[in-house]
Amino acid sequence: MATVLVTGGAGFVGSHVIPGLKRRGHRVVVFDNLQRGHRSTVDQLDVEFVQGDLTNSEELQRLFVGTHFDAILHFAALAYVGESMLNPDVYYRVNTAGTLNLLQQSLSATEGQPPPVVFSSSCAVFGIPKQLPLDERSPKSPISPYGRSKLVAEWLLEDFGRAYGLRSVVLRYFNAAGADLAHGLGEIHQPETHLIPLAISAGRGDAPLHLFGTDFDTPDGSAIRDFIHVCDLAEAHLLALDHLLAGGDSDDFNLGSGSGISVWELVHAVEAELQSPVPVHQAPSRPGDPPALVSDSRKAAVVLGWQPHYSSLKRIVSDAAAWDQRQRLYISHELSHVTT
Ligand SMILES: NC(=O)c1ccc[n+]([C@@H]2O[C@H](COP(=O)([O-])OP(=O)(O)OC[C@H]3O[C@@H](n4cnc5c(N)ncnc54)[C@H](O)[C@@H]3O)[C@@H](O)[C@H]2O)c1
Repeated sequence: MATVLVTGGAGFVGSHVIPGLKRRGHRVVVFDNLQRGHRSTVDQLDVEFVQGDLTNSEELQRLFVGTHFDAILHFAALAYVGESMLNPDVYYRVNTAGTLNLLQQSLSATEGQPPPVVFSSSCAVFGIPKQLPLDERSPKSPISPYGRSKLVAEWLLEDFGRAYGLRSVVLRYFNAAGADLAHGLGEIHQPETHLIPLAISAGRGDAPLHLFGTDFDTPDGSAIRDFIHVCDLAEAHLLALDHLLAGGDSDDFNLGSGSGISVWELVHAVEAELQSPVPVHQAPSRPGDPPALVSDSRKAAVVLGWQPHYSSLKRIVSDAAAWDQRQRLYISHELSHVTT
């Protein structure tokens, strides 16, 4: 049994890893500033919670003074490409300087024996690919401050490894989606910017889906993405943690399903799931959005033994739609209590 620090554990992907950590008998401590995550999620998962900010050295110092961590799963970050184009300073401060802060505090609290780190990176580090699918050796040339802030954080881990013996696993997710209905977990982003929840809410009568980019150089003109079920990502974290706790070397892995899905295909899959049209408002492509991103995840299969099990488009959309329905019922139930 290990004591595992989960930064950003109140958010979407981090929260989905926690049931598996608990199942393995690990003690879990979540560190999150709740800027984008949810206290109710942490309470529901019944784990220790420390509210704090990655950019606040004193808060991090207090966290490490109180507890010896055997490993860190580092999810906490800001993760919207569009927002990063408008506010690059905040992205470098949280994602890059925040990661540096975390590594420095963990290094000084452990007298030079820092616990290993599993880091949430992103396919955004690749920029506009020259060749698909993308494997770990594909050139990294990010085109958004978000992607750059993540790539520099990857370099920090690499340099801390060389200089201070820090071991780390970098997991580059493609598009995380879906929900873990068995544990009552799913995606609650405010504001929501992710495609699948937005398409589902458009299909259920909320605002039309803004489809950014219809003249990409792709078969139907819309962007192509690789959607990976969040439960498959959760499994990859558990395997990466096992690898590091067993003394494994630093490594990096791209995590996707390996299937490129166009935005139009996704819209049609949501329409089929909901049995209702998804109103679409076509808009120009956004700066920072590459035309196509598809993962080659064979290295994760070979080294970690990871295979996606839940990442068919149908399964992802049906789990996301079921989660959305559950949230709607919950909200209308809460509202009925307020009004009665
Ligand atoms: N969701 C995706 O499709 C995707 C794809 C690639 C990479 N990632 C990466 O995975 C990680 C998790 O993404 P997510 O979708 O769960 O995002 P999320 O916003 O749901 O979760 C991030 C969590 O980090 C917390 N946080 C943010 N800034 C913080 C700070 N300064 N101090 C402490 N806590 C802070 C937020 O409150 C939130 O709970 C991020 O690092 C993101 O860059 C996500």
